[in-house]
Amino acid sequence: AKKAVLGPLVGAVDQGTSSTRFLVFNSRTAELLSHHQVEIKQEFPREGWVEQDPKEILQSVYECIEKTCEKLGQLNIDISNIKAIGVSNQRETTVVWDKLTGEPLYNAVVWLDLRTQSTVENLSKRIPGNNNFVKSKTGLPLSTYFSAVKLRWLLDNVRKVQKAVEEDRALFGTIDSWLIWSLTGGANGGVHCTDVTNASRTMLFNIHSLEWDKELCEFFEIPMKILPNVRSSSEIYGLMKAGALEGVPISGCLGDQSAALVGQMCFQDGEAKNTYGTGCFLLCNTGRKCVFSEHGLLTTVAYKLGRDKPVYYALEGSVAIAGAVIRWLRDNLGIIKTSEEIEKLAKEVGTSYGCYFVPAFSGLYAPYWEPSARGIICGLTQFTNKCHIAFAALEAVCFQTREILDAMNRDCGIPLSHLQVDGGMTNNKILMQLQADILYIPVVKPSMPETTALGAAMAAGAAEGVGVWSLEPEDLSAVTMERFEPQINAEESEIRYSTWKKAVMKSVGWVT
Ligand code: G3P
Repeated sequence: AKKAVLGPLVGAVDQGTSSTRFLVFNSRTAELLSHHQVEIKQEFPREGWVEQDPKEILQSVYECIEKTCEKLGQLNIDISNIKAIGVSNQRETTVVWDKLTGEPLYNAVVWLDLRTQSTVENLSKRIPGNNNFVKSKTGLPLSTYFSAVKLRWLLDNVRKVQKAVEEDRALFGTIDSWLIWSLTGGANGGVHCTDVTNASRTMLFNIHSLEWDKELCEFFEIPMKILPNVRSSSEIYGLMKAGALEGVPISGCLGDQSAALVGQMCFQDGEAKNTYGTGCFLLCNTGRKCVFSEHGLLTTVAYKLGRDKPVYYALEGSVAIAGAVIRWLRDNLGIIKTSEEIEKLAKEVGTSYGCYFVPAFSGLYAPYWEPSARGIICGLTQFTNKCHIAFAALEAVCFQTREILDAMNRDCGIPLSHLQVDGGMTNNKILMQLQADILYIPVVKPSMPETTALGAAMAAGAAEGVGVWSLEPEDLSAVTMERFEPQINAEESEIRYSTWKKAVMKSVGWVT
């Protein structure tokens, strides 16, 4: 059969905490043509530890690329139309590997991992100067969340890592670096780089100078020679070395939350999006200004779409556990068999019946930054059943979003009039309606919720030397939206929210 002729296509790897996807878009229309998804295993070797296998992650990327290309073939779409590939990834997750063998020297230490709690406590006792030392340079609080302390742990505890550093064979990277290095040839000439958005999550990167910070590296005792080169989010890093897309340039790279901001086209000062993935992340573009939060939010690099393009910043509210609570109900309690079943259970009752679920599995992130918190389910009676717990789990995601939205409104001064959302969980209509009710503003969802991948594809397609995607706003206006309006009254919304806050206070201080 004759293959259909299309405009140039762009692929995107979306390597999240729970799954890997590869998606192919038409650069003319931003239409999603085909994709494939593979779930990623998480290992919990000890209480609070979360690890993943870097080789499984890499393998899943190859598998998704191959399967997507097969599906395109079945649609009579010629894969030689794919002109560029973008990478978006779970941020902070830390890998150290051997540059001679290409072998990881330990599992990836996942962003949610809590093993570095004592490392953080010890470091915070010897912060030089004032307490602002880390935050003023990086925009981040000293927390287990970010890569520097994970890397410190690997250097302190893993003999193989220590040896490889001594012998000049070790490379460090977040998942983007690990993937780009491997996909561009690995031990045979792989490119060791990261982009400014991912670098800004390591706690080693100065978000003002856009360089690795010597003082921070000294403070965390990190050898600078193992760090990747920092590049913009949109430029050619290297070419695919193997597989169905061999020879295609990798030319976009953004941490997944930055990618979603781009994919949602939040290019103006004050535009914000909330992505519901494993965690939940609300980012508000603050333009060329680095705004520091007074209310527990992070300052982070939003994007820099080209070597000579300006850098944009964002305020971020990070919630550690969103989709992860559904996975927990599936894998640990077994009250659902598939993640989608949660909607059915919640719908059966339409209320939590006074049950509140604070899923502080990794402590609480924004706005509390409370590592001592642990998960609780409270307000139980003999009447409570699994449907109420399912409902409370969904409500928890919405309450946590409300907390970061409140902080964002206080920091920005101008309250958001609506919330732009995306991510896998936004297919859940009950969740979206609850979110509108609890925020008491409309929630707006693009009909194509894969905005993270879209953002990475846009960055890749727009790169110098690729030039198949224009980021001018008029090219990006064809997106249709679904809208959820608040349906309960404001008073009821406030009562539920204040009970949630009571529950949060009970979860704090659980571990001492
Ligand atoms: O900071 C962690 C974040 O990037 C993870 O994203 O989509 O896996 O929840 P996600």
